[in-house]
Amino acid sequence: MNISLTVNGKRHELEVKPGESLREALRGLGCTSVKQGCGAGECGACTVLVDGVPQTSCNMLAVQADGKAVRTVEGEAKGEELSPVQQAFIENKAFQCGFCTPGLVMTTTALAESGRGGDMTEGEIRRAISGHMCRCTGYDPIVDAVRESLSRGCGCRDKK
Ligand code: FES
Ligand code: FES
Repeated sequence: MNISLTVNGKRHELEVKPGESLREALRGLGCTSVKQGCGAGECGACTVLVDGVPQTSCNMLAVQADGKAVRTVEGEAKGEELSPVQQAFIENKAFQCGFCTPGLVMTTTALAESGRGGDMTEGEIRRAISGHMCRCTGYDPIVDAVRESLSRGCGCRDKK
């Protein structure tokens, strides 16, 4: 099946199998930040933005994304300049092995761009990232990074 995907601002025409997941299609395009964890929509490691909305790409068919704009963490930095969310994750030491990080960065980016700003409570932040499993950090530094991303008003990136 032939589909068209815009990934990080670049349009791709590609042929995919009927059962191919969006995750497989994105990795085939070189987006190796899109991780294979549970493969069942439970861990959040494969989260990308589809038309601005966080989506676990392991349980979305590539054909369902036909014509849509997808963002992965590969597209968030501008050259050497990291996005504010990426910077907040580094400054708060919000990762160890990093397996969960690309998905969390994309969910946090969507939250920041939603205009919620800094008014989310800790409980709301924890609920907002509850679809992401992290086996390393204990979550506290991740919550700090998300809070800082939101309070910085990180919805300032160009939307692709
Ligand atoms: S690999 Fe997609 S949610 Fe776990
Ligand atoms: S940093 Fe290792 S799983 Fe989150």
